[in-house]
Amino acid sequence: MAAKKTINQGVEWNYSPALESTSHVKLKSKYDLYIDGKWVKPQSKKYFKTINPANEEVLAEVAHANEKDVDLAVKAARKAYRNVWSKMAPSERAKYIYRIARLMQERAREFAVIESLDAGKVIRESRDVDVPLACNHFFYYAGWADKLQYAFPNRKVEALGVAGQIIPWNFPLLMAAWKIAPALAAGNTVVLKPAETTPLTALKLAEIIHDAGLPSGVVNIVTGYGDTGASIVNHPNVDKIAFTGSTGVGKIIQRAIAGTHKKSTLELGGKSANIIMDDAPIDQAVEGIVNGIFFNQGHVCCAGSRLFVQEGVAEKVIEKLKHRMDSLIVGDPLDKNTDIGAINSKDQLDIINGYVKIGNAEGAEMYQPKCKLPKSGFYCPPTLFMDVAQSSRLVQEEIFGPVLTIQTFRTVDEVLQKANNTPFGLAAGIWTDKGSRIFNLTTKLRAGVIWANTYNKFDPTSPFGGYKESGFGREGGLQGLGAYLKMN
Ligand code: NAI
Ligand code: MG
Repeated sequence: MAAKKTINQGVEWNYSPALESTSHVKLKSKYDLYIDGKWVKPQSKKYFKTINPANEEVLAEVAHANEKDVDLAVKAARKAYRNVWSKMAPSERAKYIYRIARLMQERAREFAVIESLDAGKVIRESRDVDVPLACNHFFYYAGWADKLQYAFPNRKVEALGVAGQIIPWNFPLLMAAWKIAPALAAGNTVVLKPAETTPLTALKLAEIIHDAGLPSGVVNIVTGYGDTGASIVNHPNVDKIAFTGSTGVGKIIQRAIAGTHKKSTLELGGKSANIIMDDAPIDQAVEGIVNGIFFNQGHVCCAGSRLFVQEGVAEKVIEKLKHRMDSLIVGDPLDKNTDIGAINSKDQLDIINGYVKIGNAEGAEMYQPKCKLPKSGFYCPPTLFMDVAQSSRLVQEEIFGPVLTIQTFRTVDEVLQKANNTPFGLAAGIWTDKGSRIFNLTTKLRAGVIWANTYNKFDPTSPFGGYKESGFGREGGLQGLGAYLKMN
C-alpha cells in the first residue's frame, strides 16, 4: 500500500482495490513430470510445495525429479529427435510452434494470473509484459523454422539434438518461451527445468504443448531444485545447455561441461548502469529510473540498479524520484493498481534485507517511502541508497530486488569509467537529448544491451545477452536461433 495521500487540506484519496479474479484459474493440487508426452509420477517419489509469496499459501505440490527422471526425459527427447522431429518438414514444425503461440494467447488471462500467484509479480506486468512477450517469442521463431537457409545464407545448418534448459524464477513463462521457441524452430528437442519457486506456468505450458499435439518427447518439463538442474547439466546425452540464473551457478555449469561436446549459452547476473546526463528530459528519465529498478520488484537481470546522475541535475532528479516513489503502491500482486508486488521467496527477501543492512552499516543515506506492507507474504519497499562508494558491496554485487544505488559524476569519461568498473556487463541506459552523446557512450559502455532514453524494452527480434560475468551467447533474434544450430 502506498502512503495515504491527502490533497486539499486533508481530503484523503486512495484507490479502491481492483482485484483480478482467480475464479477462472484451474490448478491441480499435485503435478507430475511431463515426459514423453505423458504426465508421469517421479521415480524419486518426492514432491515439493510451491507457494504464493504474496500470502505464503500453498498453491500446489510439484514433483521433484531426480537423476533417473531426468534420464527418462533425455531418452524421450533423444528418441523424439531421432525418429520424428529431425525428420519432419520444417514447415510442419513451424505449424506446431504457431499452435503453441495461439493456444497460449487464448489462455493469456489464465497464464497471467497463475504467473502472478506463483511468482508474486504484479498482474499489470504479467498481463501486459510477460504473457504477450512469451506468445510473441513463439510467433517470431515459428516464422523462422522453415527459413533457416535464409537466416544463415551460404551456411549449412543443422540442429544440435537435445537441448537441456534451466530457467530462473523472475520471468518464469517468458524464460521458458525464450528457451523453447528457438530450440524447436531450429529442430532440437527439449528438456526444460523451471525454477523451484515458480514451476506452475511451465507446467501449464506443458498442457498447451500437449493440446497442440506436439509429438511425444519433443518437449519434456521436469520440475525440481538445483540437483535436478545439475542432473540435466551432467547428463552425457544432452547436446546443449541453455541456462539463465545466478553467476555462481553459471560458473558451476561452465566447469561441469568443460571438455564435453556440450554447447552452452549462459545468461547470468547483472549490475547495470542507468546514466542521466544533464541535458536529459528529467521527467521521462525519472519514469525510466523507476521502470529500470522497480519493474518486477527489481528481480530483473538487466535492472538499472546503479543510477549515475550528472552533478548539475542530481538534486532535481533525486527530489523528483523520491516524490515519484511516494506514489508507488506496494502490495497485493493481483490488484491492478499495485506497482510493486511480492518478493519471490523468503530466501530472496533475506538476501535483499541483508544488503539493506550492509548499506546502513556503511553509512550510506537510505530513502524508503512510508508504505504499509501486508502482514503476511514477502515484501520490500522501494529503496534508494545515496552517497555510496564505488567500492561498496551495494554497488558491486547483484541485489536482485527493488534497491537502487545513486552515484553522481561530472564528466563523460568519469561515468564511463565508473559504469564499466563492474564484473558484469549485461545492460545499460543513457538519458540525454544529444544523439552524439548516445553514440559516444553506447560504443564505450561494455554492456550487451544499451537503451537510449528508455529502459527494459524487450522484443523477440532483438538479441539479448552479456559480457564478462553476465555470461555469453545471445537469446532472441537471429543470434538466438543460431545458438541452437551447428553451422558449417
Ligand atoms: P539460481 O541460479 O540458483 O537458480 C536458477 C536456476 O538454476 C533454478 O532453476 C535452479 O534450480 C537452478 N540451479 C541451481 N543450482 C543448480 C546447479 N548446480 N546446476 C544446475 N541448475 C541449478 O538462483 P537463486 O539461488 O534462485 O537466486 C540467487 C541469486 O541469483 C539472486 O539473488 C540473484 O542475484 C541471482 N539470480 C539472477 C538471475 C538473473 O537472471 N540474472 C536469475 C535468478 C537468480
Ligand atoms: Mg511459487
